[in-house]
Amino acid sequence: MLSTRPFGPTGHDVTSIGFGAWAIGGTWGEVTEADAKATLHAALDGGMTFIDTADVYGDGRSERIIRAVLAERGGTRPFVATKAGRRLSPHLAEGYTRANIEGFIDRSLANLGVDCLDLLQLHCPPTAVYLEATTFDGLAEIKATGKIAAFGVSVETIEEARIAIRQPGVVSVQIIYNIFRQRPAEVFFAEAKAANVAVIARVPLASGLLTGKMSADSTFAADDHRSFNRNGEAFDKGETFSGVPFDVALAAVDELRPLVPEGATMAAFALRWILMADAVTVVIPGAKTPAQSQANAAADALPPLSPETMAAAREVYDRLVAPHVHGLW
Ligand SMILES: NC(=O)c1ccc[n+]([C@@H]2O[C@H](COP(=O)([O-])OP(=O)(O)OC[C@H]3O[C@@H](n4cnc5c(N)ncnc54)[C@H](OP(=O)(O)O)[C@@H]3O)[C@@H](O)[C@H]2O)c1
Repeated sequence: MLSTRPFGPTGHDVTSIGFGAWAIGGTWGEVTEADAKATLHAALDGGMTFIDTADVYGDGRSERIIRAVLAERGGTRPFVATKAGRRLSPHLAEGYTRANIEGFIDRSLANLGVDCLDLLQLHCPPTAVYLEATTFDGLAEIKATGKIAAFGVSVETIEEARIAIRQPGVVSVQIIYNIFRQRPAEVFFAEAKAANVAVIARVPLASGLLTGKMSADSTFAADDHRSFNRNGEAFDKGETFSGVPFDVALAAVDELRPLVPEGATMAAFALRWILMADAVTVVIPGAKTPAQSQANAAADALPPLSPETMAAAREVYDRLVAPHVHGLW
């Protein structure tokens, strides 16, 4: 049994380690349908009860794979969070109308094969969207139709998160938080806890860097964002390697290696580090193979990290990583 945490005010408890379903959709090099399904099955076999996806991951492929896997399994459904907004083209604040969002929701309902979405997150909209009361009025109206059970936001910056949790009805904030992105703990988590908002920690492995497996010789497929978005060419650069320059990150990872508890993987250590923050509700590592799903689920069993280990990880961050990222998001 994986440990659980309450998901904001929704009344649901979810496992503190969930499944990030971006890579089984697309933009991470080829993942066959068989591998994608086996990877998600392994995560659910490992006890995870939370899945994060989006309508744009593989243009719906991720949602449809989730539908197929859950149909194969039957039984109690996990909590499935999806996102909307990124199908807007151009992606502008004016596009976040009730009609557009409801249209995207209808497509996700069909892709996932359900009558009601457990959670609909706005997918990193332009900042202006968080300031518009009509955005959240529209979401509340859609909720009243029964098509979504709850709504939240996925944000790029802490400032957006702080605005969003003041808007009525927002139950969750998804934000990048990992050993290479520590600022949310300083300036946002206390506010999220006080507001009883669930926090979903994304990009927990810094796109795989914090597994310790990468080197200067690592290569990535042309259709993998780690090839084409290192400088933010396609979307926010913070989504790729957490925005840390690759050589800096490799040096920092080497300094973190001695902190990994004996017998644990660096991936599990990196996930356990995130769960030391009690404001975090669920951490959502992505995975492309069943073995990765299993390794990530194993983080739940790691004992809490010592204050010395936490301080040492902070020191590495302050010295090597923070100068490149701390003020940006
Ligand atoms: N804007 C948004 O709202 C947004 C943006 C980004 C992500 N997300 C969500 O957050 C989730 C997690 O972030 P992410 O997928 O970008 O990054 P991540 O979880 O930091 O890294 C995932 C990648 O690391 C590698 N990996 C995972 N577990 C591993 C293990 N145990 N050992 C070795 N390698 C492992 C896999 O790629 P390789 O094997 O190819 O290295 C995997 O695809 C996404 O799936 C998505 O649900 C949301």
